[in-house]
Amino acid sequence: MKDKPIVIGVAGGSGSGKTSVTKSIIQQFTEQSILMIEQDYYYKDQSHLPFEERLNTNYDHPLAFDNDLLIEHINKLIKREQIEKPVYDYKMHTRSEETVQVEARDVIILEGILILEDEKLRDLMDIKVFVDTDADVRIIRRMLRDINERGRTLDSVIEQYTNVVRPMHLQFVEPTKRYADIIIPEGGQNHVAIDIMATKIHTILRERGLIPDSL
Ligand code: C5P
Repeated sequence: MKDKPIVIGVAGGSGSGKTSVTKSIIQQFTEQSILMIEQDYYYKDQSHLPFEERLNTNYDHPLAFDNDLLIEHINKLIKREQIEKPVYDYKMHTRSEETVQVEARDVIILEGILILEDEKLRDLMDIKVFVDTDADVRIIRRMLRDINERGRTLDSVIEQYTNVVRPMHLQFVEPTKRYADIIIPEGGQNHVAIDIMATKIHTILRERGLIPDSL
């Protein structure tokens, strides 16, 4: 379809640097042409469950995500329709009541640990990327982030990583590397990989008539 937005999937383990890669790609485009959608916004709504139960949910399992809603929203954005994007609250472990109205753009980056796990999601993507980072780097990044930004204690991060994040990563996240068109070692500092991505995105934009041939 001519003028169809480009959908790029950026997967990788928690703390792998997916967000840095995504931000580096975004910098290569104007704000009006690119949109980032995080799979984390689409964790299932758990507001009906007691806090204790939400605390004990496995957030690294494919079933934790409301992929039906995510797929519905990506399809709408592809049709240039606006969506009501959910907002996720990591401290309360559920969706918050507000949503954010989001307009379609030419480039949509879909980022998340398990976005390559679902075949229906993969089928919507033009380019699939896996950010591949060693486990020691990932756990250090996660520890700092969860304590500083997500209201967690050191003990809780270690416990969750050992009992849930690590086994789920090995079972569900790591195997999706095989679906990637591009595997980027070590996050956003990989300028060669980012440039290659940006060039490819521009080529597709040109093919679809979304930017002039001269650009
Ligand atoms: O940003 P990142 O890819 O690290 O986000 C995914 C991680 O968020 C998952 O590994 C999951 O363990 C964590 N998470 C959490 N608590 C929630 C929801 C997600 O620790 N309530």
